[in-house]
Amino acid sequence: MHVTHSEFIISNTDVSKCPNEPIPEYAFIGRSNVGKSSLINSLCDRKSLAKTSGRPGKTQLINHFKINKKWFLVDLPGYGYARTSKTNKKAFQKLITRYFEERRQLISAFVLVDIRHEPQPIDMAFMEYLGINSIPFSIVFTKSDKVKTGAIQKRVTTYLQSLLDGVWEEAPPHFVTSSLHKTGTDEILGYIEQLNQDFKEST
Ligand code: GTP
Ligand code: MG
Repeated sequence: MHVTHSEFIISNTDVSKCPNEPIPEYAFIGRSNVGKSSLINSLCDRKSLAKTSGRPGKTQLINHFKINKKWFLVDLPGYGYARTSKTNKKAFQKLITRYFEERRQLISAFVLVDIRHEPQPIDMAFMEYLGINSIPFSIVFTKSDKVKTGAIQKRVTTYLQSLLDGVWEEAPPHFVTSSLHKTGTDEILGYIEQLNQDFKEST
């Protein structure tokens, strides 16, 4: 699938005000600064459809982008940004959990993790939360341009193995990406296309 049309629709702090069109929706979530907004731009082949920043905490709202006039990509605030106030952290937490608990249109989440890092407790806890709430997700390893090509597979295998050593019986689908080199986007778009097709057949 190619993204031929992408447009920003709306930013919200209130989940109930998000678009209510019954079309498939996919959300990008992960630690602050992991590369969520950059990946959305990369998937859409746009430079600044989603706002990015070198400083964590850039995305603070629920942002809906309509793709090919048929489905939504959602850019969410990051979790785990240490240098923000407790009140802010709580507000973000609430925004994120309400989003995941209330968005019936959500088909799947993409949990982004930086390929350079060992499994982080906050990501593990978030994936567990998705599992408990029966929200399908896949893992996206970001910033793969920052590690040597030969080391990528080992990092991925080690990461997935740690999930299997924990609470998971099987590893979720996963993707390796670099927004800098625009890699991994075809795989993600192909996966979304398949899920869109399954959705169409089930309705
Ligand atoms: P918040 O909105 O703050 O939660 O961050 P985010 O997850 O949306 O991250 P964002 O896309 O804004 O990117 C954060 C920083 O990482 C920026 O400086 C990006 O240029 C950089 N970055 C994102 N993806 C990549 C990548 O694939 N490779 C490299 N080298 N840098 C990246
Ligand atoms: Mg962002």
